[in-house]
Amino acid sequence: MVGRSVEDMTTTPATLVDSYQLGPLRLPNRIVMSPMTRVRSGPEGLATVSMAAYYAQRASAGLLISEGIQPSLLGQSNPLTPGLFTDAQSESWRQVTGAVHVNPSHPASPAPTSRKTAEHFLSLGADLISFGRVFLANPDLVERLRADLPLDEADEATYYAGGDTGYLTYTAYRR
Ligand SMILES: Cc1cc2nc3c(=O)[nH]c(=O)nc-3n(C[C@H](O)[C@H](O)[C@H](O)COP(=O)(O)O)c2cc1C
Repeated sequence: MVGRSVEDMTTTPATLVDSYQLGPLRLPNRIVMSPMTRVRSGPEGLATVSMAAYYAQRASAGLLISEGIQPSLLGQSNPLTPGLFTDAQSESWRQVTGAVHVNPSHPASPAPTSRKTAEHFLSLGADLISFGRVFLANPDLVERLRADLPLDEADEATYYAGGDTGYLTYTAYRR
């Protein structure tokens, strides 16, 4: 728990869709995607078009924490994890950050019930709430929480399976 002043805490508790100032970043909501290794990089640790699509699908998060990225060859724990220590790797991440920034968070309005547990922690003074598997399976998690829509379950078998199945195949809620 960081950062809320005593004055803040004596006023109305924050909701998940309230913005938050994190250092120089103004987060549009308090929903954070947890770091999740997905072993979908290309050869030589390059970020791929599929990775750009995966992160762009989830760009409505207040903050996306990327998967583990190795800072050196020795720092690589698994095959097909992305790196950020060669010029080609740095360049390959531009398509990911570019895709996330053109697909930014939509403003959200106050909403009802299924986010109750998360907001309980906010009421106790937490600033941000992170979601892992549920964000993996629900790319539009922010909207689903906002509008109290049902949540899909993540398929464990495809966590590290490579390819786009279980990576790009989770969709926004269809009414
Ligand atoms: C497929 C997958 C990969 C993960 N990889 C990482 C990782 O590389 N580093 C890390 O700190 N946590 C990793 N985690 C843990 C998540 O960040 C998170 O802490 C965990 O899933 C619990 O949150 P949840 O109950 O909301 O899923 C991973 C989780 C999953 C499901």
